Amino acid sequence: MSDETLSNLLHEDRRFEPPADLAAHANVTAEAYARADADREAFWAEQAERLDWDQKWDRVLDWDDPPFAKWFVGGRINASYNCVDRHVAAGKGDKVALHWVGEPEDDARDITYAELKDQVSQAANALTDLGVQTGDRVAIYLPMIPEVVVAMLACARIGAPHTVVFGGFSSEALASRVADCEAKVIITSDGGYRRGAASALKPAVDEAVEKAAAQGQRVEKVLVVRRTGQDVDWDDSRDVWWHDAVEKASTEHECEFFDSEHPLYVMYTSGTTGKPKGILHTTGGYLVGTSYTHWAVFDLKADTDVYWCTADVGWVTGHSYMVYGPLSNNVTQVMYEGTPDSPHKGRWWEIVEKYGVTIFYTAPTAIRTFMKWGSDIPAKFDLSTIRVLGSVGEPINPEAYIWYRETIGASRVPVVDTWWQTETGQIMISPLPGVTAGKPGSAMTALPGVSADVVNDDGESVPNGSGGFLVLTKPWPAMLRTLWGDDERFKDTYWSRFAEEGFYFAGDGAKKDEDGDLWLLGRVDDVMNVSGHRLSTTEIESALVSHPKVAEAAVVGAADETTGQAVCAFVILRESALEGGEAAPDELIQELRQHVQKEIGAIAKPRQIMIVPELPKTRSGKIMRRLLKDVAENRDVGDVTTLADSTVMDLIKDKQTAGASED
Ligand code: PRX
Repeated sequence: MSDETLSNLLHEDRRFEPPADLAAHANVTAEAYARADADREAFWAEQAERLDWDQKWDRVLDWDDPPFAKWFVGGRINASYNCVDRHVAAGKGDKVALHWVGEPEDDARDITYAELKDQVSQAANALTDLGVQTGDRVAIYLPMIPEVVVAMLACARIGAPHTVVFGGFSSEALASRVADCEAKVIITSDGGYRRGAASALKPAVDEAVEKAAAQGQRVEKVLVVRRTGQDVDWDDSRDVWWHDAVEKASTEHECEFFDSEHPLYVMYTSGTTGKPKGILHTTGGYLVGTSYTHWAVFDLKADTDVYWCTADVGWVTGHSYMVYGPLSNNVTQVMYEGTPDSPHKGRWWEIVEKYGVTIFYTAPTAIRTFMKWGSDIPAKFDLSTIRVLGSVGEPINPEAYIWYRETIGASRVPVVDTWWQTETGQIMISPLPGVTAGKPGSAMTALPGVSADVVNDDGESVPNGSGGFLVLTKPWPAMLRTLWGDDERFKDTYWSRFAEEGFYFAGDGAKKDEDGDLWLLGRVDDVMNVSGHRLSTTEIESALVSHPKVAEAAVVGAADETTGQAVCAFVILRESALEGGEAAPDELIQELRQHVQKEIGAIAKPRQIMIVPELPKTRSGKIMRRLLKDVAENRDVGDVTTLADSTVMDLIKDKQTAGASED
């Protein structure tokens, strides 16, 4: 973030007080902060009482061997039981759990908690029949259909950690995740609907099974939901239809309770190297953290609210704030399969109106897209039921915040800007809608029971009005426990930067304003944030270099009006690729973009590729991405004195015309 933006943020003096009626009945009031500070463990133990435990814990937190935490030690719990069975037992079985909306119009289903319990039980029985045992990993590669929720809860029910892979990822990405966590079953579908058309998934799974086998992991069974009716290749010894295995299974399933620290899921996310990290979340603490924060941050009134989180279940937001948080809280929620503009740009607002959505949670990139499409579109719909608006995934710029509050929230609804990560599992920094006077663009303060700070290079807390690194200074219940199969990388990545202080280093820059409120400034490492999704520069560079015509590649995240950041690649071609002339044809650039899509997925496809003769490197050979970023953002190139060859930047700028823009 530039200095100019920083000083703009410092001069932001708009404040939005909580609406009086909301504050008067708020779930959480200002006293919670001090109470949690006085005795953090007692505070989290109190929140753990929200859940049903088969056996209570003996100890709230075991932090004897940092950074390996154990929460609610000795407790026994089942996540699936807490998300469905207990609500049915409490007489809430007829309540709608999911208002599911398919992308094709008139394709919708309401599923009650009692129905969800039956379906989860059937799927649990079916998975057991397929040979899945407690502790086995199951990969889930599904579109946004109810079966994905059923599949996740069924895995949780039998203690088989799931790893959900975003349906937009390629077969390569799926295969590497399957191989890394040694999943023996994949749950998928023939396809799903996106932008008005059926889009296939099963072929990618077939390829991934082969590729995983080449990496040493045999997938024994593939369970396939029929969603689109597309033709699929079928392997009788391996493939099983969901409607044969699950829908014919018994709806009776007695669930077992697991140790509080039993693994619940592994979610892969990009780090600073090419290899995605398997973030491990366990059961008890994760459920306490997500359940409490969902209730507190959105001021959830489960009996009357209709909640909608627009995130895909393939990301952590879909796990924490579509599945585990909301369902453990017995809310009625909307789940939508498709894109916001299908079949028209008012689709989301039409859904809000139809179901009377009261709490709406989305990402800044979506908000900016709607701003671009125009306020007249949401204005055609009745959005008056909305009472809390949430934002997640990247810093929300003040313009987008104000538009969101005014246009979607009728200038009266509080906006909660929630900062957290795949690793934190739960929201960490956010306003509380009944307490906080919100500032547009600020995530404000750490939630009760959470402890964050901004520190300098030496790990010292910076004074108000200054910036530095965001750290989390105390353990929290939903924290990641390790990286799947790699304790060393876990320690190195998050706990070595401020090892002496014992802080978790989040990888984000942040600033404290004059009141001590927090402003997130984006990543300080080689991680990009494109449409609120994490991508590593190295991962995309590796994908580019795997193309036979590419000799070297450097990738930067350049500022983008809609997606926050966009992938910009600088590529040096192999001599052989240049045969027949110097100028790189557009086709080659398109080919490289397609190649990245194939290797990782459409979200990683570079917006722009520049073919260059050289890359700017320091004398030790490190690529100076800062300079490439200047080029990608059309700025004057900064200080080049540490370059091994200071003329390189002139060569690159000369070639800058050879770009390709997004299709
Ligand atoms: O840089 C921060 C940004 O997203 C990163 C976490 O990405 P991921 O693990 O994919 O999780 C996204 C959904 C929780 C963070 O390190 N980020 C997330 N929320 C915000 C944010 N940056 C600023 N403000 C936020 N509210």
